[in-house]
Amino acid sequence: SKEGYTHFMLKEIHESPIAVKDTISGFLNDMETVKEVAEEIRRANRIIVIAAGTSYHAGLYFSLLLNRKGYTAIPLIASEYYNIKLSKNDIVLAISQSGETLDVKMGIKKFKEEGAKIVSLTNVIESHIARESNYKLYMRAGPEIGVAATKTFTSQLASLLFLYSVIERESVDYLEKAHEVVRNVITETEGLAKKFGEELAKKSNIYYLGRGLGVPLAMEGALKIKEIAYIHAEAYPAGESKHGPIALVEKGFPVVFINYGELDDELEKNLQEMKARFAITYSISVNKKLNFSDFEILVNADERLSALAIAPIIQMIAYYAAVKRGYDPDKPRNLAKTVTVE
Ligand code: M6R
Repeated sequence: SKEGYTHFMLKEIHESPIAVKDTISGFLNDMETVKEVAEEIRRANRIIVIAAGTSYHAGLYFSLLLNRKGYTAIPLIASEYYNIKLSKNDIVLAISQSGETLDVKMGIKKFKEEGAKIVSLTNVIESHIARESNYKLYMRAGPEIGVAATKTFTSQLASLLFLYSVIERESVDYLEKAHEVVRNVITETEGLAKKFGEELAKKSNIYYLGRGLGVPLAMEGALKIKEIAYIHAEAYPAGESKHGPIALVEKGFPVVFINYGELDDELEKNLQEMKARFAITYSISVNKKLNFSDFEILVNADERLSALAIAPIIQMIAYYAAVKRGYDPDKPRNLAKTVTVE
């Protein structure tokens, strides 16, 4: 049941803190598997991270974390699995909330035939993808009814941060507070996220920009608003504006900046470029705001948890935009919760 919430999507966003808490406890209880996976990843030649949609954005985030440390992680959109030929010491990480997405299954099948070991991160115990893998990591986000992935995305990010810290032999203590950060962010920003969403609801095109680790979150923000509010949105790394996309910007064009908390001086310049073309700028910042944004949401959080702080905000913005436009966010047209067709 919706337990008093108007939609499952909003209920599930509000369940994110508990989903993250349970996920982290689950990882702590299965440290043995996490350590084995970490060891496999440290030893691997390349890490192929295969996933679709929202799960791909979590995979991209994880790949960026690893690549910054000198690993070779290749984020792969599942339906494009044929573009990679595995070599001997490669390992595959499949990320899928449902564990049943056909494109991911097909990729796994090919990679197994090429001799790879498969690690899976799913939310559904003994799903197809979990069964097909050598190492099974589980999120414990609980069932997600809304078609739009919300608490499962935030739990994927928490799981992948956990795994990353173990790979790097760092303490995971900071993750024990992660659910509190998510809870505070939801409580503190829901009103502003509603305002952002209701403003954006009037638009027909939006850019979502970020830099570095903010890019996958910008991509997820754009996907969410497309799939439930039916507003065309595009995400790209902010530095690319001058290489083409800024041509589209005119008076009133909305640009949402995901200010992850790194590279903020560069992002500030990108914001100025947009404002010089009379764009309306919206920023979502962790710890330090962008100076000249027209609208802003600022949250404070441990910088290692920035992604977990931003995720519920972009989800609430999309939710309130959809509701304002009169759509049912739980049942977006043309979409199924689990995509088991090619
Ligand atoms: O179950 P999966 O994580 O494999 O699903 C992959 C995508 O279909 C899914 O993340 C989709 O993009 C979301 N429902 C969008 O909110």
